[in-house]
Amino acid sequence: MEVVDSHCHLDDAQFNEDRATVIERARKAGLKYLLAIGTGEGPPVLDVAVKLAEEYPFVYATAGVHPNDAPKVDDHTIEDLGRLLRHPKVKAMGEIGLDYHWGVPRDVQIPLFERQLQLAKQFAKPVIIHTRDAWEDTLAVLRSQWTDTDIPCVLHCFTGDADLARECLDLGFYLAFGGVATYPKAAEVREAARITPIERLLLETDCPYLAPAPHRGKRNEPAFVLNTAQTLAEVRGVTVEHLAGQTTKNFERVFAIEGAADPSGSGSYT
Ligand code: NI
Repeated sequence: MEVVDSHCHLDDAQFNEDRATVIERARKAGLKYLLAIGTGEGPPVLDVAVKLAEEYPFVYATAGVHPNDAPKVDDHTIEDLGRLLRHPKVKAMGEIGLDYHWGVPRDVQIPLFERQLQLAKQFAKPVIIHTRDAWEDTLAVLRSQWTDTDIPCVLHCFTGDADLARECLDLGFYLAFGGVATYPKAAEVREAARITPIERLLLETDCPYLAPAPHRGKRNEPAFVLNTAQTLAEVRGVTVEHLAGQTTKNFERVFAIEGAADPSGSGSYT
């Protein structure tokens, strides 16, 4: 069975003691690729995921500034991001977006979000979107800045209902589901996952956060993506192999992963 974790924070300090073991466990659990999110602690350090992608053939990376880190951006940030986007293993810009939960000023977040979308477009890289308490503004920015391109846009950790899913799908976006979809009270999220066309669906963990059942409350890790895959397969009435295989194909298409990584984990990439 092939399965992918399309969103993990492998650089997180919660993995400092056993990062290599966690990555090895993902490999042994059958994960074909991991996409390491590069936002880290924010500027000026923007290459935390790239370093991991350089170390492990089956790990790919993103680069970007999380909205909560918007106040740390300086004159060099955009230039540095541009340099990282040229790296052959950097497959997307992310996670970028808007977060109105933590009180970072909106007039700092929105221009950064727009600037990063422009940069992603310039480098023809897909974007991975974070949005919290900010759906309306996030979709407004994406409508004005992104819907004129065919470059994929992934809504990460989708926790909306079916109506919101339809709105996003109509805009051409991909929906990535994580551990929240396994929680007993998340029936609306499961319904959103059920109605999403299979070719627009991605799996993720967002680890070390939001571990799926039965690991809820513990540190999350890429191997647990299988629990979410199992739940979504049940909801959609397909086998977990089918769901995992399709979402892996989607991942390869969305992030332009060509020439599958050497299954031994020692091969080169192009
Ligand atoms: Ni994340």
